[in-house]
Amino acid sequence: MSTQTPMVDLKAQYLRIKNDIDAAMARVIDTTAFIKGPDCTAFEKEFAAFCGAEACVGVANGTDALIYALRAYGVGPGDEVVTVANTFIATGEAIFLNGAKPVFVDVDDVTYTLDPNKLEAAITKKTKVIIPVHLYGHPCAMEAINRIAAAHGIPVLEDSAQGHAATLNGKRAGALGHAACFSFYPGKNLGAYGDAGAVVSNDKEFIAKVRQIANHGGGTNKYDNVIVGTNSRLDTLQAAILRAKLPHLQQWTDERRERAALYSKLLDGVPGLITPKEGPGAKSAWHLYTVRTPKRDSLIEELKKHGISTAVHYPRPIHLQPAMAPAGGKVGDLPVSEGLSKEVVCLPLYPELPLEEVERIAGVVRAFLKA
Ligand SMILES: Cc1ncc(COP(=O)(O)O)c(C=O)c1O
Repeated sequence: MSTQTPMVDLKAQYLRIKNDIDAAMARVIDTTAFIKGPDCTAFEKEFAAFCGAEACVGVANGTDALIYALRAYGVGPGDEVVTVANTFIATGEAIFLNGAKPVFVDVDDVTYTLDPNKLEAAITKKTKVIIPVHLYGHPCAMEAINRIAAAHGIPVLEDSAQGHAATLNGKRAGALGHAACFSFYPGKNLGAYGDAGAVVSNDKEFIAKVRQIANHGGGTNKYDNVIVGTNSRLDTLQAAILRAKLPHLQQWTDERRERAALYSKLLDGVPGLITPKEGPGAKSAWHLYTVRTPKRDSLIEELKKHGISTAVHYPRPIHLQPAMAPAGGKVGDLPVSEGLSKEVVCLPLYPELPLEEVERIAGVVRAFLKA
């Protein structure tokens, strides 16, 4: 057995930019500006600019970004929010936590993201927001989604927790809908050294509203509490770390892209294996490189024998999670999402992954599925 290959190597990334990260942390500690320090404001400005949006508010994590963005839209009991089940549970949790009901639509079987052809049928008079999810870093078919949403006067909130630096027709995720939620969980393409998140939008009033909710419902003064809010602020240490990383994000995305392209080239034509494809005008952020095969479980075992880590995102579509049962989902509702959950497996992919490792991993996959 050769070396153990992880799904992601955060230490390798740290070593590339160690001096900048260490200096950023030292700066915050030196000034003791732990809460709402200058790095928070600077990061919000820089991240909004990166996305091509007007404004950004940092929050404690990506789940809170979704929860408080939905609250800022006024989502509450009796409302419906349309989204996909082929996502991480947080997307559904944020809807329930606002007292609303998720309405799940299926994904298309090429990009595995919200199928715009199925959107119209899911919209009712109760629909308050639509949340497409840029799963695996692949931007959703936002033009079609925005068109349908606009016809009904419904805002589109991107779940871009996996979408940093993805583009659609040259526009980055974060500027593809009315607003977008990001996670900076450590393993994300732009990851903090703990939990962190953000909401981005061109609508400055909307961002101000999220900021108010996420900081104790504050007005202009600290002890001016206008609405019942909460504490979901972006930590200054995390903001400083994210600022040190942001200037590298495009290069890291290009490096992911190079590795994804190599996998796809080497895995082309393997019997029964479907490699990920990009939709029209889309450039994935390649958060995950996900292949599909009916032999998924035995392939995982084989890769393990060769010291290669894998992950399944996700083994169960969330409409079938017990936690989402009040939404009434049942087996057979979403055939594409349900089929994917039985067949997808993510291979290691990160900017520092040696190209020879991609070759070795692809070789193991080829040899196993051809046998
Ligand atoms: C699609 C999606 N939405 C939301 C989240 C929640 O983000 P966080 O873990 O920062 O709360 C994640 C994180 O894994 C995610 O992948």
